[in-house]
Amino acid sequence: MPKIVVIGSINMDLVALCARFPAPGETLIGERFFTSHGGKGANQAVAARRLGAEVSFIGRVGDDDFGRELLAGLQQEGVNTRHVAVTPGVASGVASITVSGGENAIVVVPGANHVLSPDDVRQAEAEIASADVLLIQLEIPLETVAEVARLAERHGVPLILNPAPAQALPVELLARVAYLTPNQHELMQLLGDTTVSGLESLPVSLAGKVVLTQGAEGAAYADADGRLRHQPGLAVDVVDSTGAGDTFNAALAVFLGLGIEVALKRAVAAGALAVTQPGARGGMPTAVQLDAFLVGSGQR
Ligand code: RIB
Ligand code: NA
Repeated sequence: MPKIVVIGSINMDLVALCARFPAPGETLIGERFFTSHGGKGANQAVAARRLGAEVSFIGRVGDDDFGRELLAGLQQEGVNTRHVAVTPGVASGVASITVSGGENAIVVVPGANHVLSPDDVRQAEAEIASADVLLIQLEIPLETVAEVARLAERHGVPLILNPAPAQALPVELLARVAYLTPNQHELMQLLGDTTVSGLESLPVSLAGKVVLTQGAEGAAYADADGRLRHQPGLAVDVVDSTGAGDTFNAALAVFLGLGIEVALKRAVAAGALAVTQPGARGGMPTAVQLDAFLVGSGQR
């Protein structure tokens, strides 16, 4: 199995299940509350590990109860946390999540995630150089993301950038990335162009690099020659879509060595399983569960 190094955020998720989303100024009585371990980076690390990869996570927690619990959670999953730093005087990242009808609305307060610096990742350069695939998102400072991209290029390790939450990105950064995995909204934001729809009109600089996630519709990929491949979504009972994107990205990284088509198929299937359980990490499949689901849905 490949070695995946994930650089990114780690949060405590504070989740309220509600019959509907509250309006501004409204107080709504919810149905259920739970805390669960999250953060796009840490979620991706856990999902990759469950799929059988060797995984290291590079990130920061605060010197608080949430931080200690989050760190222990990663270790229980078998993720290497040697490069997770405890940050004095700063709170761990938290995400306030409202879930209704399988959809979510999320407010992230980054805390220690925003202290993860270019110097932190330079200190983990040997770890980064030893990876088969690197995986990163945008809940940490952009200068840190840019430094990881430079290290990825220096050591010839493919970098998958999950551009979430959405923001515009510098061209030098995009040039160093092997794959980008936006949804439609993130694609428009990262190109700074709200007229872009789908993969037909990508700038040449992104040819062969964009994997577009489409929620229940699956995902699409256009190769360097513009040939489009659509991987349809798989029907599942949607409980909580939180973490589906993270699971998709992790599976893409884990199976990239089998070729983009196989990786795309498995990523869509893994993402579908993720939405069937509450919490960001609830439905993340093991390799065995993913295999069984692929067989059961006639994909293998
Ligand atoms: O992608 C889902 C994650 O986004 C949640 O776990 C939350 O922590 C936010 O980072
Ligand atoms: Na879930």
